[in-house]
Amino acid sequence: MEGANINFQPRNVVLILFLVTSYTNLIYALEKTHVEFIQTSCSLTTYPTLCFNSLSTQASAIQTSPKLLAQTALSLTLNTTLTTSLSIFKMSKVHGMAPREVAAMKDCIELLSDSVHELQKSLEEMSRPGSKVSGLVMSDIQTWVSSAMTHEDTCSEGFTDDSKMKSVVKGKVTNVARLTSNALALINSYASLIE
Ligand SMILES: *[C@@H]1O[C@H](CO)[C@@H](O)[C@H](O)[C@H]1NC(C)=O
Repeated sequence: MEGANINFQPRNVVLILFLVTSYTNLIYALEKTHVEFIQTSCSLTTYPTLCFNSLSTQASAIQTSPKLLAQTALSLTLNTTLTTSLSIFKMSKVHGMAPREVAAMKDCIELLSDSVHELQKSLEEMSRPGSKVSGLVMSDIQTWVSSAMTHEDTCSEGFTDDSKMKSVVKGKVTNVARLTSNALALINSYASLIE
């Protein structure tokens, strides 16, 4: 074992410790900057706590990019809308529900499917290669995302009677509508930077 001649002199150990500590501090500082960026950006949305809790786990991917932040918020909203729609679909198959309830759920699923379509189009446009999205495309995206939000609001207003399912469905759809509202706010912030 002649090749391994690492020299464990105190001087070298101190140097290695110094480098490891500096590196660790740098990583922490970067992570802190990324998390603070999300916090500051989320403070401008209508539901800042939901915004921060849902996006801070992606801080290392978002870094300090307003575009990636808006894109991630959009992707999260799309995913949540899809899972919510699926869960309402499953609930609508439960036996013993009033026909009016089933009808309201079906309407809701259709409205959410429109939202999914609009969110998907928006995410596709935002994810195209290139560092910037044109102002014209951003304006389309703003229209689609606010239309998605309108559909979600219409869904939660569809449950008129005080049924058991109403509060469950409303809770789920309200969460989706809030995520959409936050995504729209982050999209608007990004759009204001590129104009
Ligand atoms: C949404 O789902 C897709 C596909 O499963 C996944 O690649 C993406 O990371 C998800 N987005 C977020 C923000 O979690």
